[in-house]
Amino acid sequence: MVRSGLGILVAGGLVMMAWLGGAQASSIPAGISKQAVLVVSFGTSVPEARHAVDALVAAARGAFPHAEVRLAFTSNIIRRKILKEQGERIPTPLEALAALQDEGFSSVIVQPTHVIPGEEFDDIAEMVAALGSLQRKYSFSKGIALGKPLLLEGPDCRRMAALLHRKFGTAQDNGMVVFMGHGSPHMADALYSRLQLELDRLAPRYAVGTVEGFPDFDDVMRRARSSGGKRVLLVPLMIVAGDHARNDLAGTEPDSWKSRFEAEGFRVQAALEGLGENPEIQAFFVEHLRHAAQSLEKP
Ligand code: CO
Repeated sequence: MVRSGLGILVAGGLVMMAWLGGAQASSIPAGISKQAVLVVSFGTSVPEARHAVDALVAAARGAFPHAEVRLAFTSNIIRRKILKEQGERIPTPLEALAALQDEGFSSVIVQPTHVIPGEEFDDIAEMVAALGSLQRKYSFSKGIALGKPLLLEGPDCRRMAALLHRKFGTAQDNGMVVFMGHGSPHMADALYSRLQLELDRLAPRYAVGTVEGFPDFDDVMRRARSSGGKRVLLVPLMIVAGDHARNDLAGTEPDSWKSRFEAEGFRVQAALEGLGENPEIQAFFVEHLRHAAQSLEKP
């Protein structure tokens, strides 16, 4: 029997919705199907930053109390570093899915913690699509679904802007609020610019920049200069306030954003909290997870 469920497929750089392996889970008596959720993060080796990821895992457990919720990291460098330094073995997404399949889980929702659907998300989507095409012994009999990253479609950017404005609106009254996203050579990088325009509609003193994409620090500095103010609040636009937040954003090295603003005479503060620590982001994440779960229940 061919089963189907809604998932996200990525091909040729385009994200599209597609039917993957899936299910009539609603017709299965409760207690028989074993459902799992796999939270997939890039990972962080900064122990103080890890709780942002753990908070999302806890939010998934809270929303799916009957499901098995597990965590995988995509970064092999970070996985190996954590094993060496902290003795914790965190699986790759493929390892985690193989284990769930072997343990008899009939359906699984793969929920990335990524902010934009860049290269990392494409890698995960390709894997989910491949596993979703299986129909025999090594398949998940009731399907595998992929949840959306935080920002995928226009309304996601609007919602994120509103959420950030609720949290930083007051700070913005006193000076520039500068968000640092990761950024990517992938075309999904354009979502940061959309987020900037959504923030512009709400208030004048927000600037979105990225470490490795577009807009960059020069764009952020231009906005800060033209704002006329002399105060800046630096905020990571990443799930964890890890290495980039602690070094590239708020570090003491002369090339950090903090040092570069200070060199231009700005008074700089940093709010070193990952997005994953924000209860509204946790709710956003859970909503994407629920949406993916519903796709598995469709006939
Ligand atoms: Co990076």
